[in-house]
Amino acid sequence: MELELARLKDEAIQTLKGVTVASELEPFRVKFLGRKGGSLTGVMRQLAEVPKEDRPRLGQLANEIKKEVTALFEQKKQDLSAGQTPQKQSELDLSLPGRSLPFGKLHPVTQVMEEICSIFEGMGFAVAEGPDVETDHYNFEALNIPKHHPARDMHDTFYVSDSILLRTHTSNMQARIMENMEPPLRYIAPGKVYRCDSDITHTPMFVQVEGFLVDRDVSFADLKGVLTSFLHHMFSQDLAVRFRPSFFPFTEPSAEVDIACVICGGEGCRVCKRTGWIEILGAGLIDPEVMKMVGYDPDEYSGFAFGLGVERIAMLKYGINDIRLYYENDLRFLSQF
Ligand code: PHE
Repeated sequence: MELELARLKDEAIQTLKGVTVASELEPFRVKFLGRKGGSLTGVMRQLAEVPKEDRPRLGQLANEIKKEVTALFEQKKQDLSAGQTPQKQSELDLSLPGRSLPFGKLHPVTQVMEEICSIFEGMGFAVAEGPDVETDHYNFEALNIPKHHPARDMHDTFYVSDSILLRTHTSNMQARIMENMEPPLRYIAPGKVYRCDSDITHTPMFVQVEGFLVDRDVSFADLKGVLTSFLHHMFSQDLAVRFRPSFFPFTEPSAEVDIACVICGGEGCRVCKRTGWIEILGAGLIDPEVMKMVGYDPDEYSGFAFGLGVERIAMLKYGINDIRLYYENDLRFLSQF
């Protein structure tokens, strides 16, 4: 019986230590101290069966244990009703600073777009914005691309209806601005464009910055000067730049501009399709036909235009080899910029 009492005392003390909420108090009381089924009470009932001479000693021991457990129980009850266990009180450090909320940032493509705009603004260009949902007229017709012209194949167009579409380039802004204003003009037009195309260097929506300048005696040399200066500002003063003859219905002559692949240093990789060069710009002198359509006299005025892909430039700037990463909205990726 002595052993049984010692074991019960240990069990009660251990159990009481594990009690952390007030709702656990009553089950504890019933189990150990309850008048009917309580185990300490049960042991005391057995006193009647022990030899007479041992009874006073064991009775006293049982009483002491019951008293001790009851006292611990009352103490626990007080601690819990005070709202906190003594242990929790010591863990709570009210002097700790609060957790700060994370800051949002501009998307890397937006950051690069703003940087591009500010370089051109430094050269005196003004910024203009236009609609993403455009008419066939401004996206194609006014740019010397009539219906059924084979050049329409170059633009994998999303049509909304026969005459409405998602603009496939920001060149729509050339026609829109020239139609309403007289030269001299010096504009850039940043914005989203859409083409049905998707791989590691193409996404169905991407961002272009259009630029154009119209004045007297504008030559291809002016175009080369402005673009080379821009690319050297954007990347580095010694970046290799290449103008390659090309074709656009709204420019004549036309060129595509490549820069040395900054991912592989020109050796050939996945991004530059093993050529060492990356195309980032389309450009040329504004076609006299386009000038005539907006009411300018091509013998009096000439101009140049260019369109560049912002994601491409951002990829090269940050060394990213898959354009689709920009649009997966993974914060682990986006928060690095
Ligand atoms: N709009 C052309 C494209 O998206 C780029 C371009 C703009 C070419 C201006 C020449 C002049 O491919």
